[in-house]
Amino acid sequence: MPKMSAPTSQTAIAARRSGPLKGRLRAPGDKSISHRALIIGALAVGRTVISGLLEGEDVINTARTMRALGARVERCGEEKWQVDGVGVGGFAAPAAALDFGNSGTGCRLVMGAVGGCPITATFDGDASLRRRPMKRILEPILRMGARVIASDDGDRLPITLAGARDPIPIVYRTPVPSAQVKSAVLLAGLAAPGATTVIEAEATRDHTERMLAHFGAELTIAPDGAEGRRITLTGQPELIPAPIAVPADPSSAAFPLVAALIVPGSELILTDMLINPLRAGLLTSLAEMGASVEILERRIESGEELADLRVRASTLRGVAVPAARAPSMIDEYPILAVAAAFAEGVTTMHGLKELRVKESDRLAATAAMLRVNGVAAEIAGDDLIVHGRGRIEGGGLVVTHMDHRIAMAALTMGLASEKPVAVDDASFIATSFPGFVETMRGLGGNLE
Ligand code: S3P
Repeated sequence: MPKMSAPTSQTAIAARRSGPLKGRLRAPGDKSISHRALIIGALAVGRTVISGLLEGEDVINTARTMRALGARVERCGEEKWQVDGVGVGGFAAPAAALDFGNSGTGCRLVMGAVGGCPITATFDGDASLRRRPMKRILEPILRMGARVIASDDGDRLPITLAGARDPIPIVYRTPVPSAQVKSAVLLAGLAAPGATTVIEAEATRDHTERMLAHFGAELTIAPDGAEGRRITLTGQPELIPAPIAVPADPSSAAFPLVAALIVPGSELILTDMLINPLRAGLLTSLAEMGASVEILERRIESGEELADLRVRASTLRGVAVPAARAPSMIDEYPILAVAAAFAEGVTTMHGLKELRVKESDRLAATAAMLRVNGVAAEIAGDDLIVHGRGRIEGGGLVVTHMDHRIAMAALTMGLASEKPVAVDDASFIATSFPGFVETMRGLGGNLE
């Protein structure tokens, strides 16, 4: 059964106004790429060696599920892992339910991969994951021939899925901008004969496409409309392992980055950061707000774009963030909202509907985080409006709702606010950024 974590005094933490943050930091490995490295490695024939893997709870749960499905997955050093894959369509039926803990990405990508294999598996997770919609994955996967064997409502976990014996390639237009939905269809499509096509109205993170190409799969990617893409995968490839060096996660680096912008006198270098354009919306928004972020040493590794960043404390101004930018910074709104609160003037973030179905209702949780610390914030339809005053009063206790990013955004805010900011439960930070508190302390942050 999934674990329910009740807040305890050990998991409550507060952040206080700090002196300048200084130093160099390599944020933990990218979570999206880490999940994909394990899953695609498990579907390859032979051994995939991964360095820089994120050793956070979400990814560890994916590693466990790959083992339960028959792959050999071993840790062979710090952040160094190897996966001996079973080949496309080769997963074995797991002996017990697959527990994805807090991770929507792990669960949804593996649902896609299992959807193309002739096995039955039960998918489950913690109380947060059990509240999140899965129909968006089931809908295309069932069209490809998978069947739901057990489910209360056809949408929420736990769900027992029988993968397709003979998967059917489909052309699928994603109804929501979601890299998880796109990836699930592509991973199921690996086992189907012929071409599986996904059309997305707004381009979302393309790590699955890049990694499949890195492993020798044949994909064509064409623009579709102004913002969209049409991705076609040729099914039944032999995936050939290629080494994967996981870059630092921009969604994790976002917290020290914004901390350096808002704590006066700070200067940080963030190394090896993924700057894939489909993940770089926060950098674009912060640049428009007047942030001093220099991009150094651009390079390509394992099919992804990387750079080091120099960040200096900056005076920020309010901006309007267009809805079209949302897919490229979907996980960064809580921390952008913190930057917006420190800015002078109003910041309006448009088109945040998808934030309501993250680890928490992140739109509501972000607004509540600000308000309890004296910042004026409103939700209007799917938009978040933050009234920045160049300072934050603080003094609030933030309810994190099992959401790691709300916890880290709140603690980042406390480093520059007048009174301390506390969170009720910091334990979920371990899903994506193990060592966050120690890392921030090491840079000069006052957290206890
Ligand atoms: C992810 C996609 C996004 C993002 C999540 C990671 C991925 O979710 O919020 O943290 O790795 O594909 P959606 O696909 O639901 O937008």
